[in-house]
Amino acid sequence: MALNIKRPNGMEDVVPKNVHKWHTVEKIARDTAESFGFGEIRIPTFESTDLFLRSVGETTDVVQKEMYTVMAKESKFTLRPEGTAGSIRAMLQNGLLNEALPQRVYYILSCFRHERPQAGRLREFHQFGLEMAGSSSPAADAEVISLADTLLKRLGLKNIELYINSIGCPSCRAKYHEALHSYFENRKDELCDTCLDRLEKNPMRILDCKSPVCQEIGKDAPLILDYLCEECSNHFESLKKYLTRLGIEYKVNPRIVRGLDYYTKTVFEFVTTEIGAQGTVCGGGRYDGLIEQLGGQSVPALGFAMGIERLLLVMDKQGCDYLAPKKCDIYFATMGENALEKAMELSKSLRGFGYFAEYDMMGRGLKAQMKYANKIGAMFTVVLGDNELSDGKVRLKEMEKGTETVIALDDKFASSFEEIYFNKIMDVMEEETGNDNLLSFMGGNK
Ligand code: HAM
Repeated sequence: MALNIKRPNGMEDVVPKNVHKWHTVEKIARDTAESFGFGEIRIPTFESTDLFLRSVGETTDVVQKEMYTVMAKESKFTLRPEGTAGSIRAMLQNGLLNEALPQRVYYILSCFRHERPQAGRLREFHQFGLEMAGSSSPAADAEVISLADTLLKRLGLKNIELYINSIGCPSCRAKYHEALHSYFENRKDELCDTCLDRLEKNPMRILDCKSPVCQEIGKDAPLILDYLCEECSNHFESLKKYLTRLGIEYKVNPRIVRGLDYYTKTVFEFVTTEIGAQGTVCGGGRYDGLIEQLGGQSVPALGFAMGIERLLLVMDKQGCDYLAPKKCDIYFATMGENALEKAMELSKSLRGFGYFAEYDMMGRGLKAQMKYANKIGAMFTVVLGDNELSDGKVRLKEMEKGTETVIALDDKFASSFEEIYFNKIMDVMEEETGNDNLLSFMGGNK
């Protein structure tokens, strides 16, 4: 079909037959976050542009090249490129930081970045993320990393490596910036124009430049770990000790600097090599100065975000289990107007019990209706015509095995169905004993 309006580049649709994959990630993410004491926060899709300039940072790629900004009347707004800034703004504006600390929020939201689209890199993408405010202890870093690790494992993912680093506090960073400045100053002529500007304003950003030339030059640059002050160094050592205690494997990667300016001390990424160049499925870290920078008290904080599309790419690749998509429990194949009306009435009562019931609305013949019931994978079918109506009973057919049970067409129809339905579910569970993955049952139709 020649559609003359198409979806913009770098955006995706999720159609009903795939949405169970999203529901799987969202459900497991919510359950995991809530089991660690996080509550959901919902924030606006766009915020004042200033919020991102002040938090994400003026010399980052996100701010310099990737934001979708609009002028509306006299004000400048930006579609959120990430969830941290908006969540912290909302925590401040709603007084959450005056309540018992730590305050813990999680979110599932869309983000917008004008990047060059490729596998795993979109212009509209979705994050599951969370923020914890109030604790400066490395135990909080371990807790947040442990949550991410637990979630990735609960999703069934394998071969994801955790890389950690510390990018220090403003005091050790100042010395590091000097060292970086003199290193890059010597190779100034080779840097891209954006990085020439960064050299004066924020040389650490050069390490995160996407230009292959700048990346190559950055390979021999001084490492932040050699410049950490005692406090930052002790913090990092304690984090490593806690991770080991929790049995979480990690590698120190002194080259991780992250693409956003607010980070201090711990930064981390969970990375896979299985989906190409965009293999970072989760990124996060501590940002002890951000809340104060945005006008709040001096409250330390940290968090992470995972790209849901990237998680799904890896889950598909690794054949992970998803919650079963909802399927039709009972389909009424009807003949004639009276049968159609009865099917409507019965479906209404079954739906009241939580079942997925369906009947023909296309005016199909009986054979075509049964073909359709098969196609949608209906668990049970009932043929309903004038004979059944005058007999006051129908045959309920279990489609997989072909067994039939007669049920009365009376006001106990839904509860009679329920009994047969549960026997069927018990049979299936019994047949599958030994399969320790209960996901398919968790997502069953009832
Ligand atoms: P980020 O590293 O910019 O961090 O993004 C987090 C995750 O979002 C990435 O690891 C990746 O999985 C996904 N992601 C980023 N950009 C794209 C894209 N263009 N297409 C698809 N997926 C993408 C943040 O956003 C921070 N706010 C994380 C954080 C929370 N730090 C502390 N708290």
